[in-house]
Amino acid sequence: MKKDWDWNVYYDERHDPPMRATLEQVFGYWEERAPGYAVDLGCGSGNDTIHMLKAGWRVLAMDKTEDGIKRLMDRPDIPDLSKLETKVAEFEDYVLPSVDWVNASYALPFCEPDAFPDLWRKIRTALKPGGVFSAHFFGPHDGWVKHGLTIHTRDELETMLDGLNILFFDEIEEDTANAYQKTKHWHVFKVVASCPQ
Ligand SMILES: C[S@@+](CC[C@H](N)C(=O)[O-])C[C@H]1O[C@@H](n2cnc3c(N)ncnc32)[C@H](O)[C@@H]1O
Repeated sequence: MKKDWDWNVYYDERHDPPMRATLEQVFGYWEERAPGYAVDLGCGSGNDTIHMLKAGWRVLAMDKTEDGIKRLMDRPDIPDLSKLETKVAEFEDYVLPSVDWVNASYALPFCEPDAFPDLWRKIRTALKPGGVFSAHFFGPHDGWVKHGLTIHTRDELETMLDGLNILFFDEIEEDTANAYQKTKHWHVFKVVASCPQ
């Protein structure tokens, strides 16, 4: 059954989590290179965007909710506003610019399943040679499968990532609280992959 997600509850409950392993991996991969231009898809209130900006990246932060973008813009710790662009849009309809980094934490599962293949093509096209992709996907055992999300098996992800260099691929299954104060079974793939030069 399709669900109406109350993203404001998520923004309140998941404000400023510790830096995600995916981001740590990207910063490790990028290392000495000068920070480039990134897009943060489904950025919400900017939990990742803020780390990207603090690391010196120029970031296009996009989300379908105005509330998420407003919360991001209201953050007092944005280091350099001139490096932040924002866009309220649905990623199904959005034309991505050419970037060095596409990040999407816990956002791509909320793409309409029918629209995902096209979104994935856009992501692959947007990545510059040497660029990097980081994201979380939900697997078939995830407790939210019943809500009509975009779900991937490990095999499907490996096929999708064909042609990219996989830098980090972690699968977790655990029962912990979600932002809505309910215990949920999480089946999550954390992925970081780079584009060949
Ligand atoms: C679980 S939250 C993750 C937010 C943020 N990336 C983070 O890690 O804190 C999912 C976000 O995806 C956004 N979202 C869901 N469907 C979307 C769509 N079709 N287009 C753009 N954003 C979407 C929601 O508005 C929400 O902010």
